[in-house]
Amino acid sequence: MTPVLVTGGGGFLGCWIARLLLAEGREVRIFDRSEDRRLAREIVGEAADRLRWIVGDIADAEALARAAEGCGSIVHLAALLTPACAADPLLGARINVIGTLNVFEAARANGISQVAYASSAAVFGPDDGRYPHPVTIYGAFKLACEGCARAYWSDAGIASVGLRPTVVYGPGREVGLTAGPTIACREVVAGRPYVIGYSGRQDLIFVGDVAAAFVAAATGSHRGAHAISLGGEAAEVAEVAAMIAAQVPGARIGFDGPEVPMSSEIAATDAERILGLKPRTTLAEGIALTVAHYRRILGER
Ligand SMILES: NC(=O)c1ccc[n+]([C@@H]2O[C@H](COP(=O)([O-])OP(=O)(O)OC[C@H]3O[C@@H](n4cnc5c(N)ncnc54)[C@H](O)[C@@H]3O)[C@@H](O)[C@H]2O)c1
Repeated sequence: MTPVLVTGGGGFLGCWIARLLLAEGREVRIFDRSEDRRLAREIVGEAADRLRWIVGDIADAEALARAAEGCGSIVHLAALLTPACAADPLLGARINVIGTLNVFEAARANGISQVAYASSAAVFGPDDGRYPHPVTIYGAFKLACEGCARAYWSDAGIASVGLRPTVVYGPGREVGLTAGPTIACREVVAGRPYVIGYSGRQDLIFVGDVAAAFVAAATGSHRGAHAISLGGEAAEVAEVAAMIAAQVPGARIGFDGPEVPMSSEIAATDAERILGLKPRTTLAEGIALTVAHYRRILGER
């Protein structure tokens, strides 16, 4: 089996995807601007030593093309998240848009015909989860990348699956606008109070389910350029707080902040048929798994 290149593989989703790929016996190359392997060790465990780690910037087309040499497919995750794109839209465009073009160019240069990339349910605005109409610069960049992926299929025959997860939560989700539910699990396990920084209703999906979808997208033999919405279970933030409190007696969790500018009712696309996915982890199960992870990790420290 040829290696899989995972850009942004040192981050939250990347570590979970690397864990599943390694468990399938695949060789994994990480391409990340960060050298920090703390999260990889936490999520992947001892097998993290088998990851080949290449430090580089996704905006550096030549370095990326070299990293992709000999790979059979690419999982592209490297990106700035919503707050960082809003703070510096030009830098966001360089990393999120030019970086994605660099991935497709690296695929073309190396004869790689399968790319799985992270889009986002942020392509939808706050009012509609069926027709993309982003209101954040981050969502606009993600939507632009979906169009570019379609062009690389028609111009260069590179097949792609763009996955649009809603709010991903679970062990390791500690940055971004919607990291609150996961950080709340960690903090209350440590005995500290926590205030989740958004309000309202959001759809949440457990990271293990998202990682499985990426692995199916990167290792199957798909034709065409697909953009697939990937939702889990919608809940008010107050319900999420109550579910965490049910796992950790005495937990003190509040919430305060703006509503997330993304619809909580994302229309289903054809993920099951295209990727053959299993039923999703329920929110209660996912929160229990997240709390159990932090009990283990904090107990070990
Ligand atoms: N977490 C979510 O809820 C969520 C939801 C929808 C889509 N996504 C998308 O999934 C992908 C992964 O998200 P995540 O939650 O794992 O984020 P993360 O911030 O944990 O990981 C991103 C990784 O990309 C790396 N990176 C950033 N800029 C880079 C650059 N210039 N060159 C090379 N590497 C760079 C970072 O070092 C980091 O390791 C992103 O594309 C994100 O937009 C995430």
